[in-house]
Amino acid sequence: MATLLSNIKTLVNTRSENQILRGKQLSELPCIESAYLIIEEDKIVEIGQMEDMKFIVSDFQFHYDVSERLVLPCWCDSHTHLVFPVSREDEFVQKIKGATYAEIAASGGGILNSARKLNETSEDDLFNQAWKRLEEVSKLGTGAIEIKSGYGLTVEGELKMLRVIKRLKQKSKLLVKATFLGAHAIPMEFKDNRQGYIDLVINKMLPAIANEKLADYIDVFCENGFFNAQETEIICEAGKRFGLKPKLHVNQLNSIGGIEAGLKMNAVSLDHLEVVNDEDLRHLSNASLTTDIWQGACTLLPTAAFFLRMPYQPARTLIENNCAIALASDYNPGSSPSGNMNFVVALSCIQMKMLPEESINAATINGAYAMEAQDEVGSITVGKKANLIITKPVRSIAYLPYAFGSNLIERVMLEGEFL
Ligand code: NIG
Ligand code: FE
Repeated sequence: MATLLSNIKTLVNTRSENQILRGKQLSELPCIESAYLIIEEDKIVEIGQMEDMKFIVSDFQFHYDVSERLVLPCWCDSHTHLVFPVSREDEFVQKIKGATYAEIAASGGGILNSARKLNETSEDDLFNQAWKRLEEVSKLGTGAIEIKSGYGLTVEGELKMLRVIKRLKQKSKLLVKATFLGAHAIPMEFKDNRQGYIDLVINKMLPAIANEKLADYIDVFCENGFFNAQETEIICEAGKRFGLKPKLHVNQLNSIGGIEAGLKMNAVSLDHLEVVNDEDLRHLSNASLTTDIWQGACTLLPTAAFFLRMPYQPARTLIENNCAIALASDYNPGSSPSGNMNFVVALSCIQMKMLPEESINAATINGAYAMEAQDEVGSITVGKKANLIITKPVRSIAYLPYAFGSNLIERVMLEGEFL
């Protein structure tokens, strides 16, 4: 049942050893020119240079000559809110007219707007909408994805979202990880009783979620007007007692101690980082000196900065400070209504001055690490899943982010099968 891809112009991100890439390592993108790749069942079983290939085409059940094309590992999108009840383009127009994200949130829009609608939407409806989005992003090259709850904000609503994510996990060929984000916002009815909502998250939501084994991680939106650093720690420590490691929203709009809290708890990833002050940078830099201190990733979400017209994340400074950068889409109806990782990669090169090699590493192997999926996806490695992007004929790797408006993907393979 073997499949052969032959005459690959460049086989991108070929690695025999797994390693999260920090600082300078991000710019090293190992490739094989004029390559072949063999797939058996759902796995990559052999790679090499055409001139060393010992087989003939008729040895294979399926053979694809992919001359002039690049083959890459699928994108690993380690931060999304892909399950949501309805789009929010009305708020998009309000923002064009001058309202800010924080103002819309404070007036009951934003996350609370989505939460109201989510609680009125059936599980099947949510599943069907999310399935369409998952199909869309897989055609755009995403092969592994993390999806958060956080638009329920009630016990039933959060459970409903996480059950939808579980169904996506079971039905889809994408590798899916689930994150519990009950602490995404304080619901209106708890406006004067924050502690009451935090207690609900810890004492009611967490045990119910753990009981049904619905989540892999815990997340908190650590931000002014949402949850402070101390609350973030308390919620994450409670999550840890149920086996959920933290993956956090920190420093999107303000620096309020989220980075320090996340590092202390050895977060799998610290996400957003639009606003990083000198002290934050010192903490990240010290934690990134060696992998003995912190094994996590700094996950940057440039399309959220783009959409909210915020300053971009300081990717170059973080790289100079030896951080392990991952890139993700943040696909959600409020701050990034797109799950297109090709655009995320392009934007990180165009606006954050990441090199194409750095961006591809950050969106593949480091993205895999940012959701602990590195043993299965994130690079072209024998034994990993055959989740592959085959490009249209292109001149070079740099052409991918350069021609940011073109769809350069010809085919996507998930678990050894073309979509
Ligand atoms: O990552 N910042 C918090 N959460 C999302 C936005 C959620 C929303 O606006 O619906 C984000 O940007
Ligand atoms: Fe987010």
